[in-house]
This record gives sequence, C-alpha cells and structure tokens, in this order.
Amino acid sequence: MLFARSAHAALCGVLFLFAAAVQAQTAKLPNVTILATGGTIAGTGATSTTTVGYTAATVGVQSLIAAVPEITKVANVTGEQVFQIASENISDAQWLQLAKRVNLLLAQSSVDGIVITHGTDTLEETAYFLNLVVKSRKPVVVVGSMRPSTALSADGPINLYNAVRLAGTPEAAGRGVLVAMNDQIHAARDVTKANTTTADTFRTTELGMIGYIQGGKPFFYRDVTRNHTVDTEFDLAKLDTLPQVDVAYAYANVGDVAVNALVAAGAKGLVHAGVGNGSLPAKTKPALVAARAKGVIVVRASRVGQGIVARNGEANDDQLDFVVADTLSPQKARILLMLALTKTTSTKEIQRMFYTY
Ligand code: SIN
Repeated sequence: MLFARSAHAALCGVLFLFAAAVQAQTAKLPNVTILATGGTIAGTGATSTTTVGYTAATVGVQSLIAAVPEITKVANVTGEQVFQIASENISDAQWLQLAKRVNLLLAQSSVDGIVITHGTDTLEETAYFLNLVVKSRKPVVVVGSMRPSTALSADGPINLYNAVRLAGTPEAAGRGVLVAMNDQIHAARDVTKANTTTADTFRTTELGMIGYIQGGKPFFYRDVTRNHTVDTEFDLAKLDTLPQVDVAYAYANVGDVAVNALVAAGAKGLVHAGVGNGSLPAKTKPALVAARAKGVIVVRASRVGQGIVARNGEANDDQLDFVVADTLSPQKARILLMLALTKTTSTKEIQRMFYTY
C-alpha cells in the first residue's frame, strides 16, 4: 500500500515536470498569427492530378493549419479567416480590412509575426500595399501556392511551414513585408509572379531575391533599401476608401480610348503602362495631357518588367507635369499612386514618393 502511494506520488511528480517542460518549450516558441484570405493554397481540385481548372478558396484556415501539424512544433499558431476569395477579386476595401487587422494584431505584445495566406495572382500587389501601410517592424510574410491542396506534390504545406518559420524569426524583422514561396524569400516591392502556372513563379528577376529558406531555416543575403512599413508616411487609421487609380496599357497602334474612358469613369490617377522606357505613343499622348489638365495625376511606367523609367527620358515630364514610376511595375505604381493621393496632389511630392518607396 505504502509502495503504491509513493509510486503514485513519483508518477505525479514526473507528469508535473513533463507538463512544466512542455509549457516552457511552448512559451519559448514565437506566436504567429495566420490570416487566411483564400487562393489556391486553400483550393481543391476534382482529382490529385487536377492542377488547372480547380476551385480556389474552399479550405478554411483551421484545415490549412491542421494539414501541417509540423508548424505547431515551431510556433504557437493561431488562425483567422479574414476573407475567402480568389485573389483576382480582391478589392480596395479588403486591402484596408486586412491591413488594419495586421496593424491591430502587431500592436499586441503577444503577437511576434503574421503570415497571410493569399492567392498568387495579386499576391505581389497585396504584399506591396502592406509594405507601405503596416506600422510595425515585426515580420509579415505573404504566402500562397501554385497547386491546390488536393494535388500531387501540393506546394501549399511546405510554403506555409516555411512562412511560419520566417514570420517567427527575429532576423526577418525590419525588412518590410516578405513573400515566401518555393524555398525563397522575396521583398514585397520587387517580386512579381512571372509564370502562369509553375511552382517557381515568384521571381525578383534583376534586383534579386533576398534569401532562401533551407530545412525550415531562413538565410538572408540582401537587404531592402527603399523605405517601408514604419518608415512610410501613409496612415490607414482614418481611411475607409482609396482614390480611384487605373492602368492604361500601351501596345502597337494604341489610341486614346482607354485613357479617355478611365478619366470619364472618374480616375484620379492614371498609370500609363508604356512600351520600352515608358514611351508616349502619339495617339495616346494628347489624352494623357488632357487628363493632367483636368487634375488627373499621370504616372509613366513600363510594361517591360525590368529597369528604371527615366524622368525626362522618353517624355519631358517636367513640362508635362507627369511622374515616373522608377522601377515599379504598373500594378505596383498604381498602389503607390493611390496611397500618395491620400496625402497630396503635388506631382513634385508624388515623384519624391516614387523615389522613396
Ligand atoms: C488566386 O490568385 O486566388 C488563384 C491563383 C492562385 O492562388 O495561384
């Protein structure tokens, strides 16, 4: 009897120590919140070989987390479903909702980092928007996948695991919003989706990705030089909408129809996705000049995908009172122009912003 009692006491002691050790271990892990927004990473197909023609945004955040139990060993993870969409449908209102939620969470000392699961089609745009409006140095990592969750060799689980590791790494702090895909780490400003369907689609072609994730561990090799997050002048606190900014795409024999239609539809800003160095085709230029005369801000960008659009290069921007996009793609120039227009309509100021962010 005495023996049974002391054995019981010993067992309780061991269990207590074990529980304390588990608690200490859990307490040491970073606290990462996963904000789910849909996309292929939450998509399902009819069969395991369905890698096109599947349905995006069907799996909820708790199922995404449950599918990768390994992440609970490297972080204390909580999940929130912010919305559930295919990312081609993301709206300005959803960007504002997401960014405000990120800022609220990161203001809490109990949150060490955020992972956002997202469709890949507009992932780079959401990442750049957040890069400009998140007010924290804590890691924010945007992640997606190219194959739905039901596919053979689905890339979602490993991408999610890597993203959680990255978001829980102190070294990822202060680098702006990061994109973790295919074992690579990219800066939000410069990354783009470069292939319609392959798993290695996210690339920062000429400026280069900033690191790798190997065996779950992030390795950094470069830094971002443009201002971001806490070092921007954009503040969402009082914003419920964003100004209308549209992109007009240039091509051989392009005219003025798109520019005129966009201005008539109420655009406050226009990004000219020009050919080459942002050249102004003769049949488009008068419409852009007229748009500027009506107060619309015109940004000359390039559809080429790499390189600087030179100020006063292919057009006399000083004379036309136009702004150049620097190296930003047309879709990212649109985001910066929207945010710039929440602060000013001075083209001098807006040009400064394009050379700052
Ligand atoms: C989407 O962007 O929501 C669909 C495509 C993808 O996530 O790869």
